[in-house]
Formats: sequence, structure tokens, C-alpha cells
Amino acid sequence: TLASASDNALWEKSTLNEILNRGELQVCAEAGYMPFDMRDKSGNIVGFDVDIAKSMAKAMGVKIDIRNTAWDGIIPALLTAKCDIIISGMTITPERNLKVNFTDPYIVVGQTILLSPKLQGKVNSYRDLNDAKYTIATKLGATSDYAVKRYMSKAKLNLFETESEAALEVVNGNADAFVYDLPYNAIYAAQSKGKVLHLDESFTFEPLGFAIRKGDPDFMNFLNNYLAQIKGDGTYDKIYQKWFEG
Ligand code: ARG
Repeated sequence: TLASASDNALWEKSTLNEILNRGELQVCAEAGYMPFDMRDKSGNIVGFDVDIAKSMAKAMGVKIDIRNTAWDGIIPALLTAKCDIIISGMTITPERNLKVNFTDPYIVVGQTILLSPKLQGKVNSYRDLNDAKYTIATKLGATSDYAVKRYMSKAKLNLFETESEAALEVVNGNADAFVYDLPYNAIYAAQSKGKVLHLDESFTFEPLGFAIRKGDPDFMNFLNNYLAQIKGDGTYDKIYQKWFEG
């Protein structure tokens, strides 16, 4: 049987069709979110997301171009076709989902706290930080920003462009706590022993997904089936072990 004219028109417009014609997958990511997207010593963007994106490009038979994009402009960059997809540890939220489509989650994380060691025993959970005497630092426009505004609205909130600037505020004694995604905090705490205390119980539920432009069922179909495939065939586990247990 023949595909209908409207099926063909959809495929003609699909970003997946464009990627295949171009011979390159263009990914928006922001380096700085360990271990998902970060810079190696030579300045290349590497990480869990990058390895998944590379395996995906290989399955498509195309090259890959990772385009470093500031976090607060990353959805606009996708919407104006500066890239085909955001693969950058992005939490699937209802607000973002009104603007972009998300694949099925590829991992689930949550917010945790890096606390000043001075507050050991005084602050035991995010609830204790909901107090005007505390200053919290985090990244502008990240789900941590929204979580602090929601659950710790009484505290003073200082926002920074990057994760590392915000976390450093605790190390330098300018903030009482840094709120961020658990994987980042776990690595940061291990690298800064004695300088921060990790309260590692997640207080939010955050499935992370890849974001694409709306109205593209062919691309979405490929992506979700690709994720299911690599979760089942060991590829995902291998990449996971490299970055989370390595
Ligand atoms: N999961 C958080 C969010 O969606 C933080 C992601 C930050 N990602 C990055 N590549 N800097 O807001």
C-alpha cells in the first residue's frame, strides 16, 4: 500500500530526514554539568550525554556536531533551529514541555544539597534551609532555581550562569548551600572533600529527556526506539558505567 500524501509531507519536514540529507546530527548541549556534559583537558565536550549522542549519530550513519549553548538560551536555540536536538541533562518539566517535545526519560535524578560544613547538624534537609537567615546559590534557569523558589522561598537566592560558580560560593563561605542535581553534587563533593557536605537525599523527582521541536513524530519515533534499544542491548549500561561508576 502507498503512504498517504500527508505521511510523505510529514517525513519531508522531519528533522530526521534533514539530518540524513545533511549527513550530520547537530546537538545543543551546555558543558558544565558533570558527568553529562563537561570539558576535557583539550577543551572537547565529553560526558554521558555526549557518548549517547555519538552512538545515536553512528546508528543514523551521520557525523556529529556538539554545539555548546548557554543554558538560558538553549530552548530558544532549538526552536530557531540552531541544532536538531537538546541532549544536555534536561529535566522534563510541564513548563518546558509546552514549548518542546521530550523523548522518554533516559535517566531519573533529583535535587540534593551541598551544605557548608559549618552547618553540619543544624541543617539536615531542604526544609531546614527554608529560613531567611540562609543564602542559597544555584544556576539560573535550572530546575534547582525553580526548586529553591518553591521549597525554600524564605531563603535568599543567588543565581549564577554556571554550576561551578554557584557551588564555589559554598566553598568560599558566601553561601550556606548549593542546590543542584544529585549526580553533579556527588562528583563535586568527592572532589572537594571537607569543603562541602552532601545531603544526598533527593527532594524532587526529575526525569531527564532529549528535547526536539514539536510536530515531528518521525524523529520522536526514532529517538524513543533508539533509547529502548540501547537500554536493552547493553550499550546504555556500558556508557553509564563509564561515567557514573568509572
Ligand atoms: N537537570 C537540570 C535542568 O534541567 C540541570 C541541567 C543542566 N544541564 C547542563 N548541561 N548544564 O534544569
